Amino acid sequence: MTDDDCVKFLQMALPRLGLHWPGYRRVRGLVRKRLGKRLRDLRISNLRAYVPYIENHYEEWDALDQLCRIPISRFYRDCGVFERLEHEVLPALAETAAARSRSNLACWSACCASGEEAYTLVLLWRLRIKRRFPQLQLRIVATDIDAHLLERARSGCYRSSSLKALPEDLLTAGFTRRETQFCVRNEFRSIDFLQQDMRKVVPDEEFDLVLCRNAALTYFAPPLRCKVMQRVISRVRRSGALVIGIHESLPQGLSEMVPWPGARAIYRRRDADAVPTD
Ligand SMILES: C[S@@+](CC[C@H](N)C(=O)[O-])C[C@H]1O[C@@H](n2cnc3c(N)ncnc32)[C@H](O)[C@@H]1O
Repeated sequence: MTDDDCVKFLQMALPRLGLHWPGYRRVRGLVRKRLGKRLRDLRISNLRAYVPYIENHYEEWDALDQLCRIPISRFYRDCGVFERLEHEVLPALAETAAARSRSNLACWSACCASGEEAYTLVLLWRLRIKRRFPQLQLRIVATDIDAHLLERARSGCYRSSSLKALPEDLLTAGFTRRETQFCVRNEFRSIDFLQQDMRKVVPDEEFDLVLCRNAALTYFAPPLRCKVMQRVISRVRRSGALVIGIHESLPQGLSEMVPWPGARAIYRRRDADAVPTD
């Protein structure tokens, strides 16, 4: 399959799945490799022959949807964001929660892949922040559509390449080495991993912090993006924070969210009583 054939196919097929070709431009090599394997498994000689096949086998769209999931993630991805979370956002959210006599700080890692950002949050909180808020427990829900990735997330073991950006003290305190892998220590595994298709469901509860990075706003087509982000924002507690990918932007019209002062890719949900400033 040539790159050209793959691009033309994706430009035709992705919108049918509610997905957005420009988001796939840089990662199309991965999808192309998977498509090649799929065609071999189905004994279909090329993409031109796959088009009538998929049109006549409705369930094949689900198989294609799976091929289009991009599992890339790593610990402490975009370190500036985690520095800002550690020094400003989590302490501010914790202070608000403590002032309201709450015992939990609730976070949601949406489209969590193999759990890298969820575990990063646990490590930051437990090793660097919690001592200032001993009365608060961090509760983390992490969701993804992909059962295989969630299984890896629950197993909590990673190759060193996923951990390159993680500060040394978090790596040493957070992991034990098992042969070629690094495994999260048991005391940092308190995360609820749930299989959810974000296009259809979001968790029931409200969260102080939601991370929705490098998934919906990159790979979903604009109309779906808006719908999904409205639902996501409905799960951000008032005065809570939302983090998106550093190359992403929020769709227009989500006026509940204002940029976190001085921060890139972090937003705060207006408080009910606040007077809008624009
Ligand atoms: C590129 S990873 C992003 C991981 C992490 N948020 C980060 O920024 O490092 C995208 C993840 O979105 C998940 N995903 C794609 N479509 C989804 C959907 N409809 N519902 C839930 N998760 C989805 C994929 O399975 C994949 O794990």
